[in-house]
Amino acid sequence: MKTLTCTTPGQLQYAEAEKPVLAKNHALLKIKRIGICGTDLHAFESTQPFFSYPRILGHELAAKIVEIDGSTEFALGEAVTFIPYFNCGECIACRSNKPNCCVKMQVCGVHVDGGMREFLQVPVSTLLHGEGLSYDELALVEPLAIGAHGVRRAAVQKDEFVLVIGAGPIGLGTMEFARIAGANVIALDINDSRLEFCKDRLNVAHAVNALDGDVSAQLAAITDGNMPTVVIDATGSQKAINNAFQYMAHGARFVLIGLQKGDISFSHPEFHKREATLMSSRNATTEDFEHVIRSMKQGLVKPTTYITHQVAFDQVAGEFANWLDPKNGVIKAMVSMD
Ligand SMILES: NC(=O)c1ccc[n+]([C@@H]2O[C@H](COP(=O)([O-])OP(=O)(O)OC[C@H]3O[C@@H](n4cnc5c(N)ncnc54)[C@H](O)[C@@H]3O)[C@@H](O)[C@H]2O)c1
Ligand SMILES: [Zn+2]
Ligand SMILES: [Zn+2]
Repeated sequence: MKTLTCTTPGQLQYAEAEKPVLAKNHALLKIKRIGICGTDLHAFESTQPFFSYPRILGHELAAKIVEIDGSTEFALGEAVTFIPYFNCGECIACRSNKPNCCVKMQVCGVHVDGGMREFLQVPVSTLLHGEGLSYDELALVEPLAIGAHGVRRAAVQKDEFVLVIGAGPIGLGTMEFARIAGANVIALDINDSRLEFCKDRLNVAHAVNALDGDVSAQLAAITDGNMPTVVIDATGSQKAINNAFQYMAHGARFVLIGLQKGDISFSHPEFHKREATLMSSRNATTEDFEHVIRSMKQGLVKPTTYITHQVAFDQVAGEFANWLDPKNGVIKAMVSMD
């Protein structure tokens, strides 16, 4: 089978490898689509803390089952996606029904080799039925589940003002699931074309550019002086996160989906007087993946509109560096394999 390995930062190399031999309780998948995520781009750029090289990237995957052991629930030839977070099943998080933050988390395509290859073997327990969805849609389930999980962490209620900071693919999904939960969504970014995308394609009512004057005053005007009761970061910018503490209403929740390497700092008296709640949101669970699939089937989200770049598998190595250049306006690049 063909593989594409990130051998070292800045280098992607095609090679031939043996097709995996089916293990007990596993499915052998023929990969059909690979969504390119910021994590893949950063791994290529070398800024990712969890990476070691060489590594086969790719965790946003759609596939067809070609061999299976230990399940009668899934059929040969069936279109699927799967949950790419391989958890230990034994640690405190796994035992508390939070496998998404397993102590020994192995993310496919990050800690272990991922899907940039013709065939990949995964545990049957991670599979999700794809019937009724296209391969493009199936490859977009995982990034959307990240946002759906953050929205669920915030326990978003109908008619709340939810401020989503960052309008990249993760932020877009977060906005969609906040809307599905009944929220009034406010998008905040520093990139006008991404904010336009939120308004035009996602029907987000309020879009604020953080570089245009006083953000707090604009948020106060939108929320009748109350400020947003939920703030969700999807930037991974330390500056954006530190600033956002002041955007919270009294009693608000602040959820960090975005991730950065530094320390967060905020005024304790300001945080205290709001009786605010701060939480992180890592990966997603089966419940989130199923919610995303249901929402796609009901037409509540149409994430294929995020796909700005489409290429075949043998073009990936040549295109990767271009996707990193902001000039090219990539929201989601999608790789097809026959
Ligand atoms: N929780 C998880 O498990 C999980 C999973 C995947 C990605 N992530 C994280 O989510 C974050 C977003 O991922 P993405 O792929 O959408 O990234 P992205 O880079 O495509 O999007 C980030 C957006 O934030 C905007 N931004 C940057 N600085 C800003 C500022 N100061 N104020 C307002 N907006 C600002 C950028 O213009 C951009 O549109 C990253 O930090 C990523 O690591 C988390
Ligand atoms: Zn991803
Ligand atoms: Zn565990």
